[in-house]
Amino acid sequence: MNEALRLSALPTLRLLTCGSVDDGKSTLIGRLLYEKKLIFDDQLSALERDSKKFGTTEDDIDFALLVDGLEAEREQGITIDVAYRYFATEKRSFIVADTPGHEQYTRNMATGASNADLAIVLVDARKGLLTQTYRHSIIASLLGIRHIVLAVNKIDLVGYDEKTFRDIVIAYRQFAEPLGFHSLYAIPLSARYGDNVSATSERTPWFEGVHLMDYLERIEVEEDRRTAPFRLPVQWINRPHLDFRGVAGTIASGRVARGDPIVVAGSGRQTTVAGILVADAEAESAEAGDAVTLTLADELDIARGDVLSHPDHRPEVADQFTANVIWMSADAMLPGRSYLMKIGTRTVPASVTELKHRLDVNTYDKLAAKRLDLNEVGLCNLAVTMPVAYDAYVDNRDTGSFILIDRLTNGTAGAGMIAHGLRRATNVHWQGLTVGREAHARLKHQKPAVLWFTGLSGAGKSTIANVVEAKLHARGVHTALLDGDNVRHGLNKDLGFTAADRVENIRRVGEVARLMTDAGLIVLCSFISPFRAERKLVRDTAAAGEFIEIFVDTPLATAIARDPKGLYKKALAGQIKNFTGVDQPYERPESPDLTLLSGEEGVEALADRVVAELERRGNVARF
Ligand code: ADX
Repeated sequence: MNEALRLSALPTLRLLTCGSVDDGKSTLIGRLLYEKKLIFDDQLSALERDSKKFGTTEDDIDFALLVDGLEAEREQGITIDVAYRYFATEKRSFIVADTPGHEQYTRNMATGASNADLAIVLVDARKGLLTQTYRHSIIASLLGIRHIVLAVNKIDLVGYDEKTFRDIVIAYRQFAEPLGFHSLYAIPLSARYGDNVSATSERTPWFEGVHLMDYLERIEVEEDRRTAPFRLPVQWINRPHLDFRGVAGTIASGRVARGDPIVVAGSGRQTTVAGILVADAEAESAEAGDAVTLTLADELDIARGDVLSHPDHRPEVADQFTANVIWMSADAMLPGRSYLMKIGTRTVPASVTELKHRLDVNTYDKLAAKRLDLNEVGLCNLAVTMPVAYDAYVDNRDTGSFILIDRLTNGTAGAGMIAHGLRRATNVHWQGLTVGREAHARLKHQKPAVLWFTGLSGAGKSTIANVVEAKLHARGVHTALLDGDNVRHGLNKDLGFTAADRVENIRRVGEVARLMTDAGLIVLCSFISPFRAERKLVRDTAAAGEFIEIFVDTPLATAIARDPKGLYKKALAGQIKNFTGVDQPYERPESPDLTLLSGEEGVEALADRVVAELERRGNVARF
């Protein structure tokens, strides 16, 4: 094979460019395209026109304008989102993701980096390494980018000085040591004048390396999804008629051929591939990126979310793992809160069981933390409600990554990269019990329920719950009452009032309430429980129909006026932090099962309404 052919066999190179606002990212890409004559003439004249209008380079063409496509971005003078560009030379094709440099856009950068092979880290030769340089490199490393080009730009502005270049390279190498890059190539260049961009510059005779384009056209990146083990996350079961049943999905990695043995991860059932359809045509084989329908030799129990692989190279299966999580939502990640995890084609409830540390993406320091805010990164242990198939992110960026979805807004809340599975709880099995919840309830002549009183401190929750319990007790109903103040003396005495602690408080109470309903009881719970997400979690933890949300609705002003424990006074004076209604929110229930306006009716009447609701639902016999 001659050299040219070997080169053209190189896979597409996916690049990410990163740098601070003025480092010249867009100029560099624009210059590359221009010099390789990859700009059409009409684009060029538009560019010349725009350069006069918006440009920052006086008379020359401002290449940044070519890349910063959007009008809005030009007006702000910054690039605001991830933009992908495709171009090809005779030797190779490229996909470039361009992302902005500001801290608040970490999530954009993460998006662009998640499938890039190589990152061009731009540094302004006059400024050297900046906080952003560190941050971008750390995020690139986290997202699995293994090849770095350190582009020391604006070398013209330091008089093409070798020492300036060398010092930057030495400092960068030292910093990047722990980040696990496989290659690091540094180039002195001037995007504006084209030095070492697509031709070797005579103005840097001391530089012995190849120019940027040459390097990009030739670098071999080992990550080729076609050579990784075969993974097919099942999207759907295609059953157009009785005699045909196909398993459809897009191959995440590797290849599959007719006759190959395959196994369903999780169930471990095996069969062989009888046929392959790619774009409705029969094929002998298919590979990563192909949307396929496989027919199998045997009817196996397969559903959306399963992962097919070769029996010799199976993915891992676990329901707990450790992962780096990048938080992308304005609502903080709180351990214990329930999210949906989308991994491959499977979506399962998940929660963070432990935030091991937060990673300072500017310094690579590990910091203690109880929550992750927008754009923060942390190493987390997560638990899902059923085992899922996965690979470590270092082995497979498709099957090793997931997103977390906010259960209330359905928006993407975070992105995760799996480090490894945890075997911790896999040997614990649910113990079948002889006396079940129905038997317990029958003996008590009642139907269990969770009466969940939520509302501000001082709303009257505990007072009402107390009267309800007395009324039920008088009728011979078996009850238990869990009260915020009391539970915090024992079971939850390790918890305070930060958002994270309140989440854990309610999670535990929900579990206890569930155990008590299993014992056949009517459980009254009186907790501020200010967050919708956790009230929903308790509803989901309870057996179907057993959770009754009672909103004790009292205006904040009334609660403050009552102030039974004198806590509002202290909170308003700044002596108590994180006080609900004062400096922490209370999220009102959107559709409670019962609303009690505690300022308007007496406690007796309100309690009677709760008892009547239990009668109506058949939880207790009518009197
Ligand atoms: S919850 O938010 O986690 O559900 P919980 O109902 O257990 O709160 O506890 C609330 C009780 O703790 C209040 O009735 C009040 O007596 C007391 N308390 C002490 N500090 C606070 C605070 N910062 N915010 C709210 N309640 C507090």
